[in-house]
Amino acid sequence: MSGADAVGVGMIGLGTVGGGVAQLLREHAELYAKRCGRRVELRAVVVRNTEKARSSGLIDAALVGNDSTRLQQDDIDVVVEVAGGVDSAYALVADALRAGKHVVTANKALLAAHGPELFGLAREHGASVAFEASCGGGIPCVTGLTFGLMSNAVRGLYGILNGTCNYILTEMTQKGRTYAEALADAKAKGYAEADETLDVSGADAAQKLAVLASLAFGVSVVGDDVSCEGIDNLDLADVRFGAELGYDIKLIAAAECSAEGDGLFLSTRPCFVSADTQLGQVHGADNALSVVGDAVGHVMLYGPGAGRGPTASAVVSDVLNVAAGWYPQAFAAMGLTPDLHAPADKRDSADTVSRFYLRLEVKDVPGNFGRITTTLGEHGISLSAVMQHERKHAGDAFVPVVVTTHACRQGDLRAASAELKRLDAVAGTPVVIRVLDAGG
Ligand code: HSE
Repeated sequence: MSGADAVGVGMIGLGTVGGGVAQLLREHAELYAKRCGRRVELRAVVVRNTEKARSSGLIDAALVGNDSTRLQQDDIDVVVEVAGGVDSAYALVADALRAGKHVVTANKALLAAHGPELFGLAREHGASVAFEASCGGGIPCVTGLTFGLMSNAVRGLYGILNGTCNYILTEMTQKGRTYAEALADAKAKGYAEADETLDVSGADAAQKLAVLASLAFGVSVVGDDVSCEGIDNLDLADVRFGAELGYDIKLIAAAECSAEGDGLFLSTRPCFVSADTQLGQVHGADNALSVVGDAVGHVMLYGPGAGRGPTASAVVSDVLNVAAGWYPQAFAAMGLTPDLHAPADKRDSADTVSRFYLRLEVKDVPGNFGRITTTLGEHGISLSAVMQHERKHAGDAFVPVVVTTHACRQGDLRAASAELKRLDAVAGTPVVIRVLDAGG
């Protein structure tokens, strides 16, 4: 750090989160000075649209500019990246690290794409990269997982890591709103990414899982390692059938050790969780990370996962941890980051063992129910619950049949499902949704 009396902060971006960061640094200046032992001052803000930033009223207009080399000057110690995007953020962050500046970023897409390289660059130049805000908004899940649970060998992570998806699913299930209405509302409330397909496709949650799994398992995981399914193809009928069976639908990002403990299953997909479990109680834009550790057992971190205040809270905590000096020391001394790790040994999702929900559209004639249960039985799949509703209209030829299974290999269920699809008794493609019992 330069200068003993104050820590200089430069910021890239002044959007929703940047505005919150500027506000906290201004309003809590005295508190932060006490906590860090030195003042923490916002000294420059680099944006594309300088006019908009200057007239925003969020900061002193004199701090605003569009020349990113300002961030490399001597009076800047920490560069906060809250602009989002990958390519331009990468260039600016890399330049800051090369200039020896510590970096605080909220950008999971950047870390998922370039994390190992940026961590390596930081090490090379005596700097650090802090990234609490990249996962779980205001929940200290990076700090909790990395430092608070450092004593554990982690066996599994189960996260609700996308506030937009959780908000949409909650609005649809609790208030009967349509997907489009709920998504529009999530955007208006500032939860969604600029490109909301990143949220609803599961990609955002996959990127966050990549960051957290790298920390938890000491391997290098990138976003593309995570098998990814979003909520955009979810059928409301399944949400309702699940609710009848006592389940809530959640987009779950899971990283699970294989039975031998030497490989990882990595997925982001809609799952049913029992409504009365901790994960089942996470509603709206809230996020949660359930960690299964060998010493601690099961711990759940829970809180607001998106939005201005929560994300700014995490960003500023990182800034203060850097300003106080302990984070750069920990970063330099500990082998925590993915640039130091071997790639994850990813396992085929076919070998995941879990319970599943299966919905079939079945021709409503004698013997068909038996054909279905026989097919499942032939694949070694045992049924936990079965449900069939009467026809809605006298003329309906097909009725939905829903079953939940006992734990089985996903590969076996897929094979059974493919065989069921070929039966004359079944119309369309069976719907398969994981029923998650692990992780609380
Ligand atoms: N779009 C993200 C979400 C914002 O909805 O969770 C926080 O990363």
